Amino acid sequence: MCGIVGYIGYEQAGPFLLDGLQTLEYRGYDSAGICLNDGSELIVKKAKGKVGDLRKLTDDGKNTKGTVGIGHTRWATHGEPSDVNAHPHLSESGRFAVVHNGIIENYQQLKDNLTAKGIVFRSMTDTEVIAQLIEYYYKGDLIDTIIKVLEKLEGSYALGVISQDDPDEIIAVRKESPLIIGIGENENYIASDVTAILSKTRKIYRLENNEIAIIRRDGIRIIDTDKDELHKEIETVEWDVSAAEKGGYEHFMFKEIMEQPEAVAKTISPRLKNGRVVLDEIHLNAEQLRKFTKINILACGSAYHVGVVAKYIFEKMLRIPVEVDLASEFRYRDPIINDRVLTVVISQSGETADTKEAMKEAQRRGSHVISIVNVVGSAIAVESDDVIYTWAGPEIAVATTKAYSTQLAVIYLMALYFADMLGTIVPDEYKALIGELESLPERITKILENKERIQYLASKFFNSRDVFFIGRNIDYALSLEGSLKLKEISYIHSEAYAAGELKHGTISLIEKGTPVIALATHEELIGKIVSNIEEVKTRGADVIVIACDTHPELANIGQAIFIPKSCDMLLPSLAVIPLQLFAYYVSSLKGCDIDKPRNLAKSVTVE
Ligand code: F6R
Repeated sequence: MCGIVGYIGYEQAGPFLLDGLQTLEYRGYDSAGICLNDGSELIVKKAKGKVGDLRKLTDDGKNTKGTVGIGHTRWATHGEPSDVNAHPHLSESGRFAVVHNGIIENYQQLKDNLTAKGIVFRSMTDTEVIAQLIEYYYKGDLIDTIIKVLEKLEGSYALGVISQDDPDEIIAVRKESPLIIGIGENENYIASDVTAILSKTRKIYRLENNEIAIIRRDGIRIIDTDKDELHKEIETVEWDVSAAEKGGYEHFMFKEIMEQPEAVAKTISPRLKNGRVVLDEIHLNAEQLRKFTKINILACGSAYHVGVVAKYIFEKMLRIPVEVDLASEFRYRDPIINDRVLTVVISQSGETADTKEAMKEAQRRGSHVISIVNVVGSAIAVESDDVIYTWAGPEIAVATTKAYSTQLAVIYLMALYFADMLGTIVPDEYKALIGELESLPERITKILENKERIQYLASKFFNSRDVFFIGRNIDYALSLEGSLKLKEISYIHSEAYAAGELKHGTISLIEKGTPVIALATHEELIGKIVSNIEEVKTRGADVIVIACDTHPELANIGQAIFIPKSCDMLLPSLAVIPLQLFAYYVSSLKGCDIDKPRNLAKSVTVE
């Protein structure tokens, strides 16, 4: 979603701001803009469209002078994507400029009040109200003014503010929307996402709710809303620049698919010690664990699909009932949650608004929350009771792949760790599963080496109108992910069905040539899924079957993709690889904008 970047130093700010915005493109946006203080006034350049359009408008940032500036990529919420609705927004006289991520929920009321006082608004956005309020309340001290304005705002915000009168300062504030301050040599930065400043520095301050940063060329002060000085730790970001670059690959998505063996190894290896799973991050002992009568999993999109896999695994291995909820639904259904329910929250970004709010609801009702998060220091990571980080590195493509795989890896670790504590697993099985877990990255590599087979199948189906994914048990959970992956980046309509459910209605959609991707990895259910495959074939379906290499006979019922045989628990990590590659190759053949599919954003920070 929206992205913020800001610069104050001795170089021209324009080129850096544009590079930073380009880095933030992956978050999803529809317009972009920058504002610089040229020493006498604030100059805004903004346009609907891509950062490339803004580059043309500003001659790559060179025709807009100034050594202090703020920039923004906007994902429209209030007001259509347009030049005028793009950020930065100026106050009426042009004295103050604001970039904003988040939503001001009471903006209409604030706007009505200001309009009644004769203030003229230019845009349809909620953000403009902040710039206008700053000017309305300004009496000579910008910090006092901003504190007063914050009292009026309801909702979420990360703000970058500059003023015409002070070319030596950027003010940054956050509430419920991420914002970091980058620390340089005689120059400093702000950004909504570390990737925007990684080329300059890895030293950052991470702003927390209601903290205000006053950023000058030679120093940074952070205060609270009572103007008390805060002394925060400098954090060093571990990600390096190359992790956020394409490194010779055509698309980030493909690069990230190929990085999965390494990402999964990084997530698993540090947590395996002397043949045992060690999850020091979880602060629950066996007695506390035994108290839980239910596990409640909250997530959105692909992370939710990891939750569906987890339900099968946890219930089988821990014998505790598991409920998986779409975070956006959970909050509003008066859920039955209390201190006897363990909540597991899954989120790559750690900033997904629905997931974050659902988590808070669970906490409010007394549930202990363990989060599985990729972005270090993100809101969900910080606010959960325990956090288990996935070590996937920065994920830039909108469609998740390596984050999904590392989330699955954490689920396996948790299942083994809890099963051991609860005594629901026998030592031999535990040992065998640890061995399989250790060899998981190698097996994923083996499937990636076979990618041309999937590319070939994609070339046969890329013109399809509809594609169905079917499976049973964990294979059904995988079908959900395969279908989402395909539709979000290729724009081909696709649906996932529990294979046994087809005959209750959906099978009427199968006609001659309809592609059906059948997942048949689950040993106990091979016979059942084969019957379901026969049912669709009889109605004309063109079947691709994904199966373990121990079942070569399945090549007789469809075009087969074989994965190495593994224990049931780990099969999702293997079966998902062909699904990701299939979606990728289909979209590539269709010429889609794979890393930035239409209408989607990487980090969904609005409900
Ligand atoms: C799909 C995808 C999304 C995310 C979802 C949750 O490829 O990436 O469905 O999984 O928006 O995002 P996080 O994990 O950041 O909470």
